[in-house]
Amino acid sequence: MISNNQDLKAYNTFGISVSASHFASFSTIEELKYAIQQFPNEELLILGGGSNVLFTKDFKGLVLRNEIKGFEISDRTVDSVIVKAGAGEVWHEFVLNCIDEGLAGLENLSLIPGSVGASPMQNIGAYGVEIKDVFHSLEAYHLSSGEIHTFDAKSCEFGYRESVFKRKLKGQYVILSVSFKLSSNPNLNTSYGAIESELKNMGIEHPTIKDISNAVIAIRSSKLPNPKEIGNAGSFFKNPVVDETVVAEILKTYPDAPNYPAEPGKRKLAAGWLIEQAGWKGKTVENHGVHKLQALVLVNYGGATGQQIWDLSSAIIASIEAKFGVTLEREVNIL
Ligand code: FAD
Ligand code: EPU
Repeated sequence: MISNNQDLKAYNTFGISVSASHFASFSTIEELKYAIQQFPNEELLILGGGSNVLFTKDFKGLVLRNEIKGFEISDRTVDSVIVKAGAGEVWHEFVLNCIDEGLAGLENLSLIPGSVGASPMQNIGAYGVEIKDVFHSLEAYHLSSGEIHTFDAKSCEFGYRESVFKRKLKGQYVILSVSFKLSSNPNLNTSYGAIESELKNMGIEHPTIKDISNAVIAIRSSKLPNPKEIGNAGSFFKNPVVDETVVAEILKTYPDAPNYPAEPGKRKLAAGWLIEQAGWKGKTVENHGVHKLQALVLVNYGGATGQQIWDLSSAIIASIEAKFGVTLEREVNIL
């Protein structure tokens, strides 16, 4: 069913109230095609869980919420399988299903909000793993030709919070399903420091994939706001990747500034740390602000507009530029 002038507040985790001219859900490719045919000249937005978008104005076009389901295991060998999931599956439920099947590879990505179909968009990552590490392929509907195309990892051009779908092919495809190559002989990744210490707190010496998932859930729950309680879209900015010389300069004044390896000649800085140093952590402006436990997360305490969040993000960018000479880039998709 297609609705008109639909309030999108319930469809984005920032809880921003804007209106979409037209709105429908689809759970099959036929329903997708039918909805598009009704409004051939309108701008189109595919939404999953709405957990990585900021609406700054009403959407003058057709919003389609992806609800394609499916979970299929194939190509089982001694130590690997291919798991294909419908793009409208809830990511965290999908991860838990894989863990229940004894399939390793996604446990570090537990509790990331959103849908399976959005996971390749920005190559979601957390706690030392990105989906590119276990990605096999995806199927996507090409809007202009009506064909279904298959993409392997190389053609997705994954990078840090990046893919070809956010860049060159932006707005050209609807992702229908994603396949992952998972392992039945787990090669656990506990290299991210907080996981080790959380497992120790839990008294676990020989972790299973379920233990890793539980540790990640505990860490995430302790510092990231639950969007059901406080509107947010996770990290609002990317961690900036800058020249080593820029990091060396910052370390002269702040010897403890967190920084991590990146491509040759560059290092990644922690945006949350930069924002905290500039005095923004926990700052509230009317009904929105910077989260008190994670400065990388901007929050809507209720009733904020997307424009207010955008203005706050612009003020933060200007302040970090002035203090550190580093330009932050927004991670969230701005609409
Ligand atoms: P949406 O917000 O609905 O869409 C995001 C973008 O993808 C939009 O441009 C949309 O048009 C497009 N899109 C969505 N589905 C499709 C499709 N099927 N075909 C084509 N285009 C599509 N991200 C991380 O990487 N790591 C984290 O640790 C992390 N933690 C988070 C914590 C919190 C509390 C929150 C709120 C967010 C977090 N995120 C994190 C961001 C977010 O969860 C991910 O980006 C997630 O993949 C978004 O999924 P979604 O279905 O909600 O996407
Ligand atoms: N830090 C601060 N102050 C803060 C926040 C962080 O000093 O307010 C410092 C921490 O002490 C640590 C460093 O910054 O030294 C990194 O912090 P953390 O481990 O919390 O990770 P992050 O860089 O803030 C990134 C991702 C998250 C992902 C976590 C865990 C980005 C933009 N964000 O956050 O992804 O869950 O690592 O892997 O890369 C998202 O993309 O939405 C997201 C939540």
